[in-house]
Amino acid sequence: MERTKQQVETRSAAETQALAAALAAEMPPGTVLCLHGDLGAGKTCFVQGLAKALGVRRPVGSPTFTLINEYRGTKPLAHIDLYRIRGAGDAFGLGLEDYLFHHGGIVAIEWAERVAELLPEGCWHVRMEPGAEGEESRRVTVERPAREFLSD
Ligand SMILES: Nc1ncnc2c1ncn2[C@@H]1O[C@H](COP(=O)(O)OP(=O)(O)OP(=O)(O)O)[C@@H](O)[C@H]1O
Ligand SMILES: [Mg+2]
Repeated sequence: MERTKQQVETRSAAETQALAAALAAEMPPGTVLCLHGDLGAGKTCFVQGLAKALGVRRPVGSPTFTLINEYRGTKPLAHIDLYRIRGAGDAFGLGLEDYLFHHGGIVAIEWAERVAELLPEGCWHVRMEPGAEGEESRRVTVERPAREFLSD
């Protein structure tokens, strides 16, 4: 599958959310979005931007204990955090396959690398790292299927 990669530097949480909101418009139904980056990198912040773009009213927090939070918006949004699971075996108990393969909205997964072997080929990947411009800067790398593959 042909993929495209872009890199953006954001300088605040608000800028990361705006980037996420802009990208949300390009995510077809059923998009699985894997978020990578250390604790505090800004993965949840990115999901908050998606939620805003989808018109979600409920505040989006960390699904650290529930592992999965679902929100109603113009498309349904599932927010999953796999930090606490050990591997693919645990994921089956969560019904993760349904989210990966049968969800009609956007499925955003923090710490998706925990279940690397289960992820569909067409996933989007967003990697968040410290940026070069101080405390509040982040380098955001977005890798996704090339556009022409989305239309068929
Ligand atoms: N450019 C930026 N982009 C995103 N978040 C930023 C940025 N600058 C500062 N922040 C702050 O960094 C923190 C990111 O926290 P967040 O919960 O999103 O991290 P996380 O990657 O989800 O961590 P965890 O793995 O613990 O869930 C927030 O407090 C946010 O306000
Ligand atoms: Mg988080």
